[in-house]
Amino acid sequence: MKYRHGGRRPHVVVVGNEKGGSGKSTTAMHLTVSLLKRGFRVGTIDLDARQGSFSRYIENRLSYIEATGRELACPEHRRIYSSTRDIQEVAEQEEKQSLQTAWAALDNNDFIVIDTPGSDSSLSRLGHIMADTLVTPLNDSFLDMDMLGRVELDGEDYYLSPSVYSQMVWEQRQKRAMDRLPPMDWIVMRNRLSHINARNKKDIGQLLEQLSKRLRFRTAPGFGERVVFRELFPKGLTLLDLGDSKGDATMSMSLSHVAARQELRQLLEVLNLPGHVDEKNGESGEAAASDAGVTQIAQVAATAGESMRAASGAAVMEEAEAASEA
Ligand SMILES: Nc1ncnc2c1ncn2[C@@H]1O[C@H](COP(=O)(O)OP(=O)(O)OP(=O)(O)O)[C@@H](O)[C@H]1O
Ligand SMILES: [Mg+2]
Repeated sequence: MKYRHGGRRPHVVVVGNEKGGSGKSTTAMHLTVSLLKRGFRVGTIDLDARQGSFSRYIENRLSYIEATGRELACPEHRRIYSSTRDIQEVAEQEEKQSLQTAWAALDNNDFIVIDTPGSDSSLSRLGHIMADTLVTPLNDSFLDMDMLGRVELDGEDYYLSPSVYSQMVWEQRQKRAMDRLPPMDWIVMRNRLSHINARNKKDIGQLLEQLSKRLRFRTAPGFGERVVFRELFPKGLTLLDLGDSKGDATMSMSLSHVAARQELRQLLEVLNLPGHVDEKNGESGEAAASDAGVTQIAQVAATAGESMRAASGAAVMEEAEAASEA
């Protein structure tokens, strides 16, 4: 079958949020490798080509493969620069053309994962129209939340109104409807969740639930705040490349890595991408077995974490995590 998920064209996953540094490129890379590991063919597009983090991540992976001879799956990648033309219509036309050319080149893939810049641009808007699934990583702070929904205080209660990014997403959804494209599935995932400040975590969770009904997005649990994400980039590795025979021998799995991998699996579950039901069949026996082990260890880690937190407070847990990552 040409497309393993049974579609007639690649399913497009766009990772977007106009707030910089929310974890878009990190998430895009982890989703890409997750899909590759499940046996899908994946094309990738970097619409933030000037900064180029996603492209650099993939280049680092290729360099790592060349240096070590390890067999790691890689996507078919394209990077697209914003047009430098002065006249807006001409610039937009040029960008549209570049995107169409990249699309045509990647058309034989099951999925296309697109990373977007942390700011508004015509190229980013074009990318968002293409999103069958839009994933928005959100740092767990009121400041970052403001990009989705303006948070205002009305007496004791918070009041929310759609703000710039969600309005932009709304417009792209309308355009998809006019182009008779399937409705966009929008998922907001909370990134860099901290064990400290449980009150803030709860408040943001409640606000997001309110906002999700108004803006029609689903919410997903994201990644905890973990040092490992910063260490993986130079080698072009993801959490999924650690701890197996094809992975990196110098970076062994710690409890924190195991828990992070669980978070990634949960994210994939919630995204519910086409072909997701094939996941178990798509994985090798070795990977499935090691994941069963991983689940067990993660459960032990979670239980240990809970009792540590109960006994000695969240700060101890943070220290234990940092030590386990070091
Ligand atoms: N869960 C996490 N825990 C710890 N660090 C993280 C986590 N997620 C991302 N980071 C780090 O945060 C920084 C920003 O991440 P990333 O580059 O993925 O964000 P971005 O949204 O793509 O940024 P930009 O808007 O500038 O493109 C990077 O240093 C990355 O390693
Ligand atoms: Mg980025």
